[in-house]
Amino acid sequence: MTAMTAMTPGQLTEDVLAAYSGTPDPRLRELLAALIAHLHAFVAATRLTPAEWQAAIAFLTATGHTCDDERQEFILLSDVLGLSSLVDLVNAAPGATESTVLGPFYVPGAPRRAPGEQIGRPEDGSPALVRGQVTDTAGRPLAGATLDVWQCSGNGLYDTQDPSQPPYNLRGVFVTGPDGRFEFRTVRPASYPIPVDGPVGDLLRAAGRDHWRAAHIHAILSAPGHRSVTTHIFDADNPYLDRDAVFGVRGSLIRPFRPAGPGDPADVSYVVDMDFTLATAEPASTGALDRSP
Ligand code: BEZ
Ligand code: FE
Repeated sequence: MTAMTAMTPGQLTEDVLAAYSGTPDPRLRELLAALIAHLHAFVAATRLTPAEWQAAIAFLTATGHTCDDERQEFILLSDVLGLSSLVDLVNAAPGATESTVLGPFYVPGAPRRAPGEQIGRPEDGSPALVRGQVTDTAGRPLAGATLDVWQCSGNGLYDTQDPSQPPYNLRGVFVTGPDGRFEFRTVRPASYPIPVDGPVGDLLRAAGRDHWRAAHIHAILSAPGHRSVTTHIFDADNPYLDRDAVFGVRGSLIRPFRPAGPGDPADVSYVVDMDFTLATAEPASTGALDRSP
């Protein structure tokens, strides 16, 4: 900086970029440079006022205060801004089933279920058979692949939100047979509202946005030597497909819940056909700031 020369926004951005340019880890250096450039460009383009900056800090502070061991409001914020979905998109494996958001209701350790087993109860909704095949990107069946599935009941609540449901209701792990095929029984899922009693709810209301998720079944597909896919099966007959609160819908994941007919098992009202494709695994690195266990 030269004496007597007034600082400009552009010069300040250059100074800050230079201050971080010696970051030893190359990926962290790249991320910091892009973060600084985009944050500074945002402030310059919007001419952000001190009051707006204060409001943003207060909003982020409230978001942090809303987090605890069971609630992650920052992930919800990332979800409703489409960031979680964007991270999925930019990391998509070519040729694999499209991924979408994990969401806050996944519980590890769901019971292993027998092929075709029902994961819900009669009071959870209309019984549906979901069946398909898991293959690699060359179309070869993947035997022994696991599908970890979970969904809400017909009342729009997951077991973890609803004391009237037994633990692991509407959850289960299924394993594909030698032909890569799987099937499970569940109930037709319902649309449900995301939590709006915190700062994310304030944001959605301020933006006049819907807070509903299009009805879906969650699935995590895994097979040795292949990249896992965290995805959904969406009900084609759902009013929220084009305004899902968390931008999770992908056209390739929408399936009809076809009314069961002659030739279908007599104990189900709907049949859903959904195949999955997994790509070969590649080594991954999470970078210098990774503090995950
Ligand atoms: C879910 O599908 O479980 C979910 C995803 C993102 C935010 C809230 C819920
Ligand atoms: Fe969900």
